[in-house]
Amino acid sequence: MELNLFTRVTTEPDLLQGKPAYRSELGAAYQGDSRELLSQLPDGSVSLVMTSPPFALQRQKEYGNKSQDEYVEWLSDFAKIVRQKLKDDGSFVLDLGGSYEKGSPARSLYNFRVLLKFCDELGFVLAEDFYWHNPSKLPSPIEWVNKRKIRVKDSINTVWWFGKTAWPKSDIKKVLVPYSDRMLKLLDDPDKFYKPKERPSGHDIGKGFAKDNGGAIPPNLLQIPNSESNGAYVSGCKLVNADQHPARFPAKLPEFFIRMLTEPGDLVVDIFAGSNTTGFVAETEGRRWLAFEERLDYLAASVFRFMSKGDDPDQMRAAYQAVLDGETVNLGNFGMHPHLVYQPILGASATD
Ligand SMILES: C[S@@+](CC[C@H](N)C(=O)[O-])C[C@H]1O[C@@H](n2cnc3c(N)ncnc32)[C@H](O)[C@@H]1O
Repeated sequence: MELNLFTRVTTEPDLLQGKPAYRSELGAAYQGDSRELLSQLPDGSVSLVMTSPPFALQRQKEYGNKSQDEYVEWLSDFAKIVRQKLKDDGSFVLDLGGSYEKGSPARSLYNFRVLLKFCDELGFVLAEDFYWHNPSKLPSPIEWVNKRKIRVKDSINTVWWFGKTAWPKSDIKKVLVPYSDRMLKLLDDPDKFYKPKERPSGHDIGKGFAKDNGGAIPPNLLQIPNSESNGAYVSGCKLVNADQHPARFPAKLPEFFIRMLTEPGDLVVDIFAGSNTTGFVAETEGRRWLAFEERLDYLAASVFRFMSKGDDPDQMRAAYQAVLDGETVNLGNFGMHPHLVYQPILGASATD
């Protein structure tokens, strides 16, 4: 049975067997093991796999983590299928949090082992290494940081951007950031501002730098606080008394890569979808999307991302319950308000 909240659904005929938990105008969310779901997609059909797997943390999270020993092998099983399904110019973006060895203040190398394995053995190419700085991260692990005070807080995730080849589709013009005040002054009056001098790097900053390209080139350090309000998602979870997903990434993270690496109409897939941040951002950016998540309760709550705080609570409850009951919810354009307005990721400067 399908629950139609809106009938205007323009999703293409399903690429997958089985029915989705819900579908929107541009995408669909499926419950199941993503290895099986991914295998059903046509080879070479996906432009971007953007995901954040369960990390190899020592402290078991609610949804279960693999031990560090098995982790690389486990993740490789998914990555092999991802590579098959990517277009030749497709990208695989993997967000991995840092970790310590069990009972020791020695850092785990698992995220680097993943990187090496994927490139040395699975045929991926590292297009660029990114670092996501989350300034709102709480200090941890408590033992090394708060109690013994021998390690600083770890507020960086490594985000590996893999290509199937060295030439994944990419356009950094879509992710330019606002110019610094210094650069704005230079653009305003190059003659007044320009003082010829060679930088320590050997780059001669000439007047050619005073060209307005519409924004500065962002660095590979993405500074994004993980403190978004997640308005409708959080209020929806409260409405039905559901737990919020414990390890969501901020919408700005998938937004950056979706904008840079895909075009409207391209297919974006998240193979560890959780609360479906990726699918929601893909929808707002006009990309087709698929979300795979093994826990139905996480998917049920994720329908709230596609709603707004002011939506009819009865309809919100009905959509949530229908997913839990195994029905397919057609969200259509239910409550889709493009409230993800692009904001700068960093106050970076083109002259710095
Ligand atoms: C770190 S969370 C992803 C959170 C997501 N980025 C968000 O913003 O909500 C990882 C998710 O992967 C799911 N997962 C783990 N193994 C899976 C599998 N084999 N197939 C599908 N999902 C899986 C977990 O249930 C968990 O929700």
